Amino acid sequence: MLIADHISHTYPNGVEALRDFSLHVSRGQFVAIVGPSGCGKSTLLRILAGLIQPSAGDVWLDGERITQPSPRIGLMFQDAALLPWRTVEQNIRLPLELGRKTTWRGNGNSEIGDWRSSDAQSLISSSIADLIHLVGLSGFERAYPRELSGGMAQRVALARALITHPPVLLLDEPFGALDAMTRESLTDSVEDILRETGTTAVMVTHSIAEAVFLADQIVVCSPRPGSVVGSVHVGLPRPRAWAMESWPEFGALVGHVRELLTQPTPTT
Ligand SMILES: Nc1ncnc2c1ncn2[C@@H]1O[C@H](COP(=O)(O)OP(=O)(O)OP(=O)(O)O)[C@@H](O)[C@H]1O
Ligand SMILES: [Mg+2]
Repeated sequence: MLIADHISHTYPNGVEALRDFSLHVSRGQFVAIVGPSGCGKSTLLRILAGLIQPSAGDVWLDGERITQPSPRIGLMFQDAALLPWRTVEQNIRLPLELGRKTTWRGNGNSEIGDWRSSDAQSLISSSIADLIHLVGLSGFERAYPRELSGGMAQRVALARALITHPPVLLLDEPFGALDAMTRESLTDSVEDILRETGTTAVMVTHSIAEAVFLADQIVVCSPRPGSVVGSVHVGLPRPRAWAMESWPEFGALVGHVRELLTQPTPTT
């Protein structure tokens, strides 16, 4: 479904971030990317999102080349980046107002035309209410970002990323700035929501345990310039629960990923 085909990227300042990176993600799959800091993970995600053009290689989504941001690809970053003067509800609505998209897909089925029409507006309102419920923020519709905890702000960012019902969600260290307990409860929610909506996901994370908890496949990245060192299939049953962390299979998977991460890299 989503293919990164032999992606290389060198920034204008000469920094080679990625070298010949390929990734195949099938529909509904959750792929986690782990790798040393600075190996080009965020660069890869920005390329997958169509935010920057790779120096070489192509990104394909369902056979269509991605060359610019698309409403079919949702994004969530480490920083929720909510607009402080807008309520939770209004922040979630934002992607629909950015004008990239003049048609809106209701609950993924029917095109309902211009999102500014009153029909569209009432559908959007009910869709926002559904999403707020889904991410566990019922009662906070009219709260402002300053009234939210970090974890709640990330929940808003998740709902905002899902408002266009994107078939693909890209997550760059979405829980990186949160405390351990909040992280666990959010990863739990993300697993539920993605399963429920059938969303395909690619997530960058520093946490091997988080990758094992969420992913079907973990791709391990070499130090910069980033390329694929290896990948690990995670066959743990779903729904996942943090209690599985004490399972021997869980520990073995963590060990396997760690081994790939610490492999000496050829100095060519
Ligand atoms: N806009 C830019 N211009 C020039 N160099 C950049 C730019 N963005 C990133 N880089 C460089 O490209 C390399 C890869 O950066 P990137 O942010 O993709 O790494 P990362 O794997 O996401 O790191 P981290 O785990 O710390 O988030 C780094 O050496 C970084 O300094
Ligand atoms: Mg990064």
